[in-house]
Amino acid sequence: MSFSEDFLWGGAIAANQAEGAYLEDGKGLSIADLLLGGDVKTPRTFCSKILRDRFYPSHMGIDFYHRYKEDIKLFAEMGFKCFRTSINWARIFPNGDEQEPNEAGLAFYDSLFDECRKYGIEPLVTLCHYEIPWEITKKYGGFYSRETIDLYVKYAKTCFKRYKDKVKYWITFNEINAGTIDKGRYNGVGLVEDEDLQRIEPIYKSDMIDIPQKRWEALHNEFVASARAVIEGHKINSDFIIGCMICHITWYPLTCDPLDELAAQKKDLMFNDFCGDVQVNGIYNPVGLAELKKEGINLSYITEEDKKILKAGKVDMYTFSYYMSNCISVDKDAEKIKGNLQGGVKNPYLKVSDWGWQIDPQGLKWTLLKIASRYPNIPLMIVENGFGAVDAVTKDGKIHDQYRIDYLKEHISAMKEAVEEGAPLIGYTSWGCIDLVSLGTGEFHKRYGFIYVDRHDDGSGNFSRMKKDSFYWYKKVISTNGENLE
Ligand code: BG6
Repeated sequence: MSFSEDFLWGGAIAANQAEGAYLEDGKGLSIADLLLGGDVKTPRTFCSKILRDRFYPSHMGIDFYHRYKEDIKLFAEMGFKCFRTSINWARIFPNGDEQEPNEAGLAFYDSLFDECRKYGIEPLVTLCHYEIPWEITKKYGGFYSRETIDLYVKYAKTCFKRYKDKVKYWITFNEINAGTIDKGRYNGVGLVEDEDLQRIEPIYKSDMIDIPQKRWEALHNEFVASARAVIEGHKINSDFIIGCMICHITWYPLTCDPLDELAAQKKDLMFNDFCGDVQVNGIYNPVGLAELKKEGINLSYITEEDKKILKAGKVDMYTFSYYMSNCISVDKDAEKIKGNLQGGVKNPYLKVSDWGWQIDPQGLKWTLLKIASRYPNIPLMIVENGFGAVDAVTKDGKIHDQYRIDYLKEHISAMKEAVEEGAPLIGYTSWGCIDLVSLGTGEFHKRYGFIYVDRHDDGSGNFSRMKKDSFYWYKKVISTNGENLE
């Protein structure tokens, strides 16, 4: 067998993209709740006030908050060994800076994790999946403020203590490397400039003001917050396995022109490995720092005390998302393509999804083998991978999503090859195991699930759940421990 007997097969969601109940049981607003929907052509918009009569996809999500028992039962039927979700920070500390946590929020996750355990499903919990409490953004400027580090550590400790016997696997921040690019200013580090805060009309999220110096400092504060959480977590339960989480986009040089090669190498370092190096090795990569200086970033925010914390708070596992690869070229006229968080240059050998993301199973193998060589001493986990597509329901209530099965089959097969070649992979949680709100576009129309949810972009739908063909396929994959992918 390629995969170990205790391989963690499962699925992943995030609180803000599924739970809904956005103000229920004392929950405060989170940054995700201020985002309106977009689509493949139109970016999502942001407004610092909730506008009446507008549709906010996260406010009801897929109503997971009320239907999680039904959903976990379906996950158990597929044979899940692991379920990744996040705790919505604003359910626990509604404004982020209260003295005491919100008991109703804590109780909800108690019940959720108990429900997983009932079926022998191991929860894998992200502490912050693009879910900074909105009040932290407004009052403190998100992670640009060092005070937010303390607020995060307090929140992390509260969760670690409360769930220490229910949750073993943790992730400190989802896709922390979002903070390396302008798009991550809002979702990643929770930064909104005053000018954008004061707008009363929604603006495209992509047009929000980005100040790289502030964003890099905020990212540094997230590193320190993550390292402090790792230190505290291990004190609370030394069995905890706490991971970083990187959005890994694989970058190929478009040609063998040495300049394309160098550009791809730099991109791979600055986007993918810069954050992993800090969180896994506990030090900043010197080449990465030199690049930042070249870009005009003043690095004096990194103190000697911070460096000690980063070294002491190294993560126990490396987790990542993988959806696609991109090319890089020094030729400014090379054809461009969209992508997850970032687009790039089109690869003539690859097909694309309806959302323009290139489909590249071999890129997953490339990624696993690269990470295994770069960080040889820690386990790896793929915590997001999947195919966003439009699904049609037949008259007799069936969803024939062969395209999703094909995508997953090819990716799992590539992952198997990487394991056979030595990658120490301990688990795989497919993204959006149940349909949910798209992060990038805010759509329901872009579906990832094995389970269909009757919810639509105009706010219609009764939230009922239906099994897609991929549901039965993934059940077989899990029951044969990845041996039968047909
Ligand atoms: C990852 C995020 O980058 O991509 C998820 O961690 C997100 O939150 C996923 O949903 C897929 O992206 P999208 O835009 O299709 O939802």
